[in-house]
Amino acid sequence: MSAPTPSFAHFSQKDYENIYEPAEDTFLLMDALEKDTEFLKERRPLLCVEVGSGSGAIITFLATILGPFTHYIATDVNPIAAKCSLQTAHQNGVRICCVVTDLVECLTPQIHGKVDVLIFNPPYVVTPSEEVGGHSIEASWAGGKDGREVMDRLFPLVSTLLSNSGCFYLVTITENRPDEIMKLLVACGLFGETVLTRKAGRERLSVLRFTKEDDKNCLQ
Ligand SMILES: C[S@@+](CC[C@H](N)C(=O)[O-])C[C@H]1O[C@@H](n2cnc3c(N)ncnc32)[C@H](O)[C@@H]1O
Repeated sequence: MSAPTPSFAHFSQKDYENIYEPAEDTFLLMDALEKDTEFLKERRPLLCVEVGSGSGAIITFLATILGPFTHYIATDVNPIAAKCSLQTAHQNGVRICCVVTDLVECLTPQIHGKVDVLIFNPPYVVTPSEEVGGHSIEASWAGGKDGREVMDRLFPLVSTLLSNSGCFYLVTITENRPDEIMKLLVACGLFGETVLTRKAGRERLSVLRFTKEDDKNCLQ
């Protein structure tokens, strides 16, 4: 039985002038999380953190599939997105916390070693570097050089944030060089694999999943 896609009926087209409208990347990430439902439940997650929650589609979907005994925190640099994420959760009957911050800045070091599920569908589009660093709608896509300038800042933190059985989901396109990202995170002590990949228009989207190398031992 498939999990219901959250309702976005509370948003109008005008809202999507300020926040990222759920699109192919959002739905691919939802499909990856749904495919991994048993994998995620086996880990008995206590804390899930989504960086860059936008409309709140993903964190709401995750809360729907994992249930109310897990704590859900969403972050976004765009204050309107944070507000919209809360609305989406509320409209779909799940509870989340939302923080307006750069990546996970306001949450550290308190969440170090405690994050069981970390998710980032980042601004991955290749743009001039000057377009990176805004706090409104352009923050949804502007990724700078190789589309990597925002996500690259999260990578050194991932291993520190994750609990021993924690996992990290990341959306990429080919231009981000996912193979290189794999190598980077493996060098940080993580094990990576591609959960799903799909062509959407001119983009080849992939969802990568990273776990601590000893994750099998952690489930015993
Ligand atoms: C591609 S959108 C994804 C939105 C939503 N998670 C989804 O999948 O539909 C990227 C989101 O990341 C946010 N963002 C960009 N840079 C950020 C940063 N440095 N820290 C936190 N959020 C950021 C944007 O505001 C935007 O909401």
